[in-house]
Order: sequence, then C-alpha cells, then structure tokens
Amino acid sequence: MNKTAYITTPIYYPSGNPHLGSAYTSTACDVWARFKRLDGFDTMFLTGTDEHGLKIQRSAEKAGLATQDYLDGINEKFREITPIMNLSNDDFIRTTETRHKEIATKMWQTLESNGYIYKDKYAGWYSVSDETYYTEEQLIDGKSPDSGHDVEWVEEESYFFKMSAFEEKLLKLYEENPNFIQPSSRRNEVISFVKNGLEDVSISRTTFNWGIPVPGDDKHVMYVWVDALTNYLSALGWPNGEKMKYWPAIHVVGKDILRFHAIIWPAMLMAANVELPKMVYAHGWWTSEGKKMSKSFGNVIDPKEVTDTYGCDQIRYFILREISFGNDGDFSKDRLVERINSDLANSLGNLFQRVLSMVAKNIGHVPALNELTDADHEYIKHFDTIISDVRNEMETLQFHKALERIWQVIYAANQYMDAMEPWQLRKTDEVRMQTVLRVLMESFKYITALIKPFMPESAEKFEGQLNWQMTSYENLEKGEFFSMEETTEIAKPSGVFMRIQTEEAA
Ligand code: MSP
Repeated sequence: MNKTAYITTPIYYPSGNPHLGSAYTSTACDVWARFKRLDGFDTMFLTGTDEHGLKIQRSAEKAGLATQDYLDGINEKFREITPIMNLSNDDFIRTTETRHKEIATKMWQTLESNGYIYKDKYAGWYSVSDETYYTEEQLIDGKSPDSGHDVEWVEEESYFFKMSAFEEKLLKLYEENPNFIQPSSRRNEVISFVKNGLEDVSISRTTFNWGIPVPGDDKHVMYVWVDALTNYLSALGWPNGEKMKYWPAIHVVGKDILRFHAIIWPAMLMAANVELPKMVYAHGWWTSEGKKMSKSFGNVIDPKEVTDTYGCDQIRYFILREISFGNDGDFSKDRLVERINSDLANSLGNLFQRVLSMVAKNIGHVPALNELTDADHEYIKHFDTIISDVRNEMETLQFHKALERIWQVIYAANQYMDAMEPWQLRKTDEVRMQTVLRVLMESFKYITALIKPFMPESAEKFEGQLNWQMTSYENLEKGEFFSMEETTEIAKPSGVFMRIQTEEAA
C-alpha cells in the first residue's frame, strides 16, 4: 500500500467532560478514516487533548488538584470516547507528553532560526476561555467576541510571531487552492479577515507557567495555540519520523477555531518550510433541543448516555445524516427516533430482514440465478456508479450527501422488492423467486460495504448474515455484480435495527 491519508480532530481542552460536540468531530473523522482504509489507503487518524494554558491550570485549581493529576484523571474520560463512539483512531496525543514537547520546541527553534520570532512587549486583552488575544476594537461590550466571556488585560514582555509577513502568501494560497478551506462560505470569511490586515501575534506568556518553556528563555511559556497546533506534526515525529509519510493532513475543526487552522497554522508551516495541509474543513455547532448546550440548561448531550440508549451506530448515523457537514444543527430526540425508525429500522433493517428470512426459510443458501428481466437490469444499473459517487462525496467530507446517495439505492431496493413480490412468486414461480432474491442479495453487498464506515458494527452483522466479507471498494467496483456462490449457506437472520417505540405509537 503506498497511497496514504491523514485526518485529524482538534485536540480537545480537557477542562470539562467530553460532550456531543467533541464526539461529533471525532466520529466524522472516524467515518472518513474507515472509508479511506476500505478504499485502499494506508490511513492515519489522530485525536488527543490540549493540556497546556491558563484555562487548564485554572480548571485544575478549581478542582483542588495538582495540574498534572487533574489532567491524568480527566484524560481518561476523553480516551473513553474511542470505545463509546467506536472510533478507530491510530493514536491519541497529549500535549504534556515528552514526544510532543520535544517537537513543539523544535518547531519554535525552527521559526526562530528562520527569522520569524522576535521579542517585544505585549499589551492587550486576553480571553482565557478562548485562549485568544483581542484588540480593543474586536471586543463586543467589553467581552470576547467569540464566546462572550470576560477578558483580562495583559501587559508583559512577549515573543512575537511575524504573522504580518504572511498576508500576501496566505491570500495566494487560498486563491490557488480553492478547496484549502471548506465549506466555501467559511473560506470567504477567512479571506476577508486576512484582507483586513494581519498583525504579528504574541506567542509567549510570562505570568503563569503551565506550558512548554520557550527554548533558551524559560521565564516564558509558549502560547498554548502555537504548542497545540504542532500536535499534528509531533504525532508523526516531525521532521524525519517514519510516519511523516502521512503528511499532509486534512484537519477537521469546529467553525470557532477555523482561524487558527486556516491562518496561523499555515503561516507557521510556511515559516518552517513544511508542506501545507490538504484541507481545513470547518463544521458547524450542535444545539440541543433548540438551545445551546450548557450545564445550566441541563441539555448537554452525553455521548455515553445517548449511545447506551439508542445504539452507537444509530447515533453515528444520525449526527452525520441529520445536518450537512458545515452547518449548525439541532439534536432533537424526536428527530433521532424518527430517523432510526424510518431510515434504519424500516428502509434498511426491514429490507434485509425480509429478504434474508425468505432466503433462509425457503432456500437455505445463496439463491440460484436464472434469466434476468428488464426490471432486473434496470435495478442493477443503480449500482453502476454507486461506489464512485459515494467516494466523490467523501473526498469533500459531504457525509450527508454520501448517505443520501446510499439511501437512494436502499429506496430503489425496496421498490424493486415491492414490485417483484417474491412472496407471491414463492407460490407461482419458484425459479423466478430465486433470481429476484439473488439480485437483491448481490445488491446488499454494495449497501453493506458503503454503510460500513458509518455503522461498522451493523455492517459486520449484515456481512455475517450475507456470509460475505467486504475487502475493498476497488474489488467491489472491478468485480462482477453477481459474485456470490450458490453453495454459500444463509442462516436465519436476526434483526439489526429495531424500531423504537414512541409514546404515541405505544
Ligand atoms: N483545544 C482547542 C483546539 C486545539 S486544536 C490544535 C479547542 N478545544 S475545545 O475543546 O474547546 O473544542 C474542540 C472542538 O469541539 C472544536 O472544534 C469545537 O468547535 C468543538 N465543539 C465544541 N462544542 C461544540 C458543539 N456544541 N457542537 C459542535 N462542535 C463543538 O478549541
């Protein structure tokens, strides 16, 4: 395998428990990584935690713990997202690890020796909640324009990064690579921000010490964002590690942290002469039952609780299907139940269950194939380009569109089944019944293969029921539509997606 792919989530601040917001980005990256692996790419998927800065130091103080002890405890909660959401991340990086600190230090030294760091005085506003510096003009009613939280006046000696040197280069980058920032509405926002002029950024602090010491001047610690962004390279052992074969990355981030990834990070990389990421994709924010998720509203979605109640695959499906990747969306339990019942239990689960039960009961093995009718050919045609169509959507992280496309063939399968009425054929024409069931079963390979990155556990159950295993999309694409062996046994299936009883229906 020589094709490589690399996808990253932001590294999360472990200043509170993980919630649906963090599980969302990680699940999206997981689906993409799983798709790429099944599509023949040697794939690396990275996530982790951002453990330096004043916000973390204060969270630990509030909890009455030494900072590292606090972090070691809460870190477990973030690692648990991997089994809770069934993530396939290849690594989990913590910025307090030596491997990261060494590389962040090397990055600083590189920027310095390339002439992009200088020492001066900083005076301005800082929001600890956003770990961001603001000018007086940027504040809204004296508060952070991003989170609305309080800001503090900071006046200290500081190192600066020569951000201003990159204005033209960044604009050129966005112009020459229209897909660098996605979706395009966000791209325009970034372009106008840069066009307004970039100032050099303060990249060190002296008034607290929970950070990576500035090399050669340990009165200073690095600004947490400079430290954090470097994680994407430290997990690969930059500059010479064997894993550098995965670089450049696709970075998936929430819209609130796009500027760091689309402006500061590429500027740092240019300054260090490192190849730029392939894409920065900014997704939207989830609200819960129409309101911002917050402890005081009591509407924070706990990934463990919802996956325990509704099923992990069901939640993975819902969050990627319900809203287009990039837009904001609302997590409503009514909508979730509706989608589980109609898309999963009814259109998909029921279809497989009906077909495979008929096969198990009446035949016991893969049905025999006989002459095909025009209706069969017409149905089979739906699968001609299904893989490349889904692949195209996945290339640009259009998860909802990929799912929509997959459901088009699921609806077509339901229509074909209803039109062919194999249960009637059982009484009148058993040979024809077998052909119809065979056509359906062969088409189920494609459906199973394509839902696999989204719902890996359920797809594995379907694979078991079909007594068939997905190898790669390429094989499926190159192979013949009819590839199953008549001798393959088919056992009585059990339901994969259950309907959820709603109060009205009960
Ligand atoms: N530590 C920084 C990222 C550094 S990356 C080099 C950070 N951490 S965070 O924990 O505050 O946020 C992590 C991600 O969670 C962000 O992408 C943010 O957009 C996302 N979300 C937090 N709440 C969210 C929702 N309610 N909905 C969707 N995503 C949200 O920023």
